[in-house]
Amino acid sequence: MQLNTPAPTDQLGGSEYHIPVLPTQVLESFNFPDPAERTILDATAGGGGHSELLLRQGFRVIALDRDRDSLQETAARLSSYGERFTSVHSNFSDLDTALASLNIPSVDGILADFGVSSHQLDESSRGFSFMREGPLDMRMNQTSGPTAREVIETYSEENLKQLFREYGEEKKAGKIARCIVEDRGEKTFATTLDLADFILKIIGKREKIHPATRVFQALRIEVNDELGEIKTLMSKSLDLLNPGGRLSLISFHSLEDRLVKRFIAHHSQATIDRPEWPEPKPNPDFSLRALTKKPLIADKDECARNVRARTAKLRVAEKR
Ligand SMILES: C[S@@+](CC[C@H](N)C(=O)[O-])C[C@H]1O[C@@H](n2cnc3c(N)ncnc32)[C@H](O)[C@@H]1O
Repeated sequence: MQLNTPAPTDQLGGSEYHIPVLPTQVLESFNFPDPAERTILDATAGGGGHSELLLRQGFRVIALDRDRDSLQETAARLSSYGERFTSVHSNFSDLDTALASLNIPSVDGILADFGVSSHQLDESSRGFSFMREGPLDMRMNQTSGPTAREVIETYSEENLKQLFREYGEEKKAGKIARCIVEDRGEKTFATTLDLADFILKIIGKREKIHPATRVFQALRIEVNDELGEIKTLMSKSLDLLNPGGRLSLISFHSLEDRLVKRFIAHHSQATIDRPEWPEPKPNPDFSLRALTKKPLIADKDECARNVRARTAKLRVAEKR
């Protein structure tokens, strides 16, 4: 893919709130010749970095976020774009309802930059970081759902083990789950550091990353149903994209990227072949064209500027 007019680095968008990852590649994924005629849904508004880049290109942008405070700040920041920018407080799995509420039947692009924003991570009261003391919460939408503390204090040992193993890819999942369940009667897990220090004590420091990293990732995914949200977003996007519309998805860990990669691969295949079939059959889900064989990643400069970019992978597909 080639971008018509690459953005100069001083115009790469973002705020102190959050620096958008892969800015040039994201714009390239929506390289329509007539942006003023096009609407893009930014499913993860965050600090509005990507939304602003798209607005500057001339697009109309509908931005969703499940974090009300963050969305309000972003909407205020981008209010100078007038009617070209609209925000809706919504989970991205409800993108169909959000668009219907605006009487928009379909869009030309859907962008999602998964995970939490730097602002959410830095804000100790949100409880996402094992580096900062705060309530063990981790809900992106603070108005609904169980907190990470509730998960730690109520799940069975087996469920915790499975959670840490599946969503955290944590090798010591069994030991950590057992110790939590044994100790949780006497010890409370009210704060991020209660849990982070507990994990450090029981498994020690084995590698460069903090030993609680994987457990925190697993809890965040569980509390926010992150993988379920991505699956629903992708499947609903097929009905909401105009022909030739683009789906542009940025993931940050292998669990997310695997879902995106498989979804695009399956929907981009004209036929399906199985060993037990005499010949391939047409794929009833054939509806996309993959535009990226390999994921697009950040270059050295961007990784130096923005730590979050180091693990970012962008995959793009076009609706047939
Ligand atoms: C990585 S940040 C996006 C940053 C944004 N692209 C920017 O340039 O500033 C991810 C945002 O998506 C939101 N988010 C994550 N999962 C969501 C979901 N399922 N539905 C709606 N918003 C979600 C988070 O609250 C967070 O604000």
